[in-house]
Amino acid sequence: MRSFAGRDILSLKDFERNEFFHVLDVARQLEPIARSRRNSDLLKEKTMVTAFYQPSTRTRLAHEAAMHRLGGHVTGFSDAKMTRAGDWYQESIKDTVKMLEFYGDVIVMRHFQQGAPHEAAKWASIPIINGGDGWGEHPTQILTDLFTVWTEKGRIDGLNWLAVGDMRMRTMHSLAYALTQFDCPITFVAPPEMSLLPEFKEELKQYNLNFTEAEHVEQAIAKADVILVEPVVQPDYTKSRQEAGEHGLTPANYKITRELLANKAKSDAILLHSLPRMDEIPPDVDITRWSRYWQEAYNGVVMRMALLALVLGAME
Ligand code: CP
Repeated sequence: MRSFAGRDILSLKDFERNEFFHVLDVARQLEPIARSRRNSDLLKEKTMVTAFYQPSTRTRLAHEAAMHRLGGHVTGFSDAKMTRAGDWYQESIKDTVKMLEFYGDVIVMRHFQQGAPHEAAKWASIPIINGGDGWGEHPTQILTDLFTVWTEKGRIDGLNWLAVGDMRMRTMHSLAYALTQFDCPITFVAPPEMSLLPEFKEELKQYNLNFTEAEHVEQAIAKADVILVEPVVQPDYTKSRQEAGEHGLTPANYKITRELLANKAKSDAILLHSLPRMDEIPPDVDITRWSRYWQEAYNGVVMRMALLALVLGAME
């Protein structure tokens, strides 16, 4: 297997099947550190730099928490407006990264431009982790979701997935690429204007992903082992920042309610949402036996511990 030491984590399209299982296994090995709420010293001589050009709660702080759990150091920015990349100078990715690579040993980047972390990786001599790039991909989130499924269900192959939301979203792209490496049929449910793009569908067919599309969650929920939901009411990921404005409610086609789960879902199905949510999963679903999004949030720290340990060469 290829080593992860020094590698960028830009896209799940780059991942081989055995590499998924290796990352899951490393996460399983490191999980007791997070569970016992202690900090170890695995990365005590390493520093992570965060370069977040878009808002984030989970991705940035889970990476930071992961670094602290492994005894490492953290620096960086969470608001590009307070840097020369976000002020009058509009400093380029190249010029910014050529500085950041001297401030630490790995860079985690979120950007509103698709491909920005890839551009950073071209210039950086240290690993770049993609924390979400425009409509592109969100690889660390989907690795977190796979870890959640693997720990909850004991396997990944042979499970039926239902993905609900805006199929232009970066999480959906990473999910589809990841599932090409597993025996996992998936049904996508999205509003017509947010459905899978024709060129992306062609690409998925070439990878032999077993996928179908449906109009309403009611048509697909009964056979799902894993239900992954994202908002259809959401901001434009190509903008650096958007304040809350007027927005509509989620139509029933794309909503997972307590009644729907009770009446139609498998009793042992699990419900994932990377969050933040709007009204597509009402709060009264939170304490049902299907919900796993809080577990997913915990696993977000564990998975980032694994990725940081791997790309920094502390685990092989
Ligand atoms: N799931 C996720 O990416 O959340 P943040 O936008 O808060 O990082």
